[in-house]
Amino acid sequence: MRVNIFGKGMDRMPDTAFRIMALTYKVRDIFVHRDDILDEFGIHRGHNIVDYGCGPGSYIRKASELVGVGGMVYAVDIHELAIKAVKKRIEKENLRNVTALVVSNEKCPLADNSIDLIYALDMFHMVANPDTFLKELNRIVKPDGILFIDNGHQRRSEAKTKIHSSGCWKITEEKPRYMKCRSIKGT
Ligand SMILES: C[S@@+](CC[C@H](N)C(=O)[O-])C[C@H]1O[C@@H](n2cnc3c(N)ncnc32)[C@H](O)[C@@H]1O
Repeated sequence: MRVNIFGKGMDRMPDTAFRIMALTYKVRDIFVHRDDILDEFGIHRGHNIVDYGCGPGSYIRKASELVGVGGMVYAVDIHELAIKAVKKRIEKENLRNVTALVVSNEKCPLADNSIDLIYALDMFHMVANPDTFLKELNRIVKPDGILFIDNGHQRRSEAKTKIHSSGCWKITEEKPRYMKCRSIKGT
């Protein structure tokens, strides 16, 4: 395992780094409503969506409201502490349409072609094997599935190169804060 406290191209953050990050987010989320970004993603009631690399779950309450009772939010992460934090939040906020799932060996425990939309925010720079990661995301989305992904802590050009070389996503829209991608399954 490559250890890098800043989390670039790493398999899994050290527990202490995760705890510091979670605390920082907790304080930041009081002042900055980062989850407003979800309003731009076209999330509908009844959608099955994935918060990929959910961390401590800053976006799950808003995501839960947007998909409503007929939808489902899967909060997915490679870190056990993230899953623990999200489960606690689900319980505390009574989020019945949110499920926390751990990714192990780069496999997400969701069925093929089952997801309408994935968002992956502030995490792409951390992914150790971007090609495998992007193919796994493509496996779980429906043929017309959409991915919203941001650069994380890397240049936009670097993020785009990874997306293009995966051969399974097409960037259909670029905004300063994120890229919208369509699965090539539907083309
Ligand atoms: C900086 S945090 C961001 C959390 C959240 N997306 C946010 O913006 O508040 C990045 C998260 O991505 C997770 N992560 C990194 N690589 C991953 C991968 N390959 N698959 C799933 N989660 C991953 C990390 O464990 C960490 O919880």
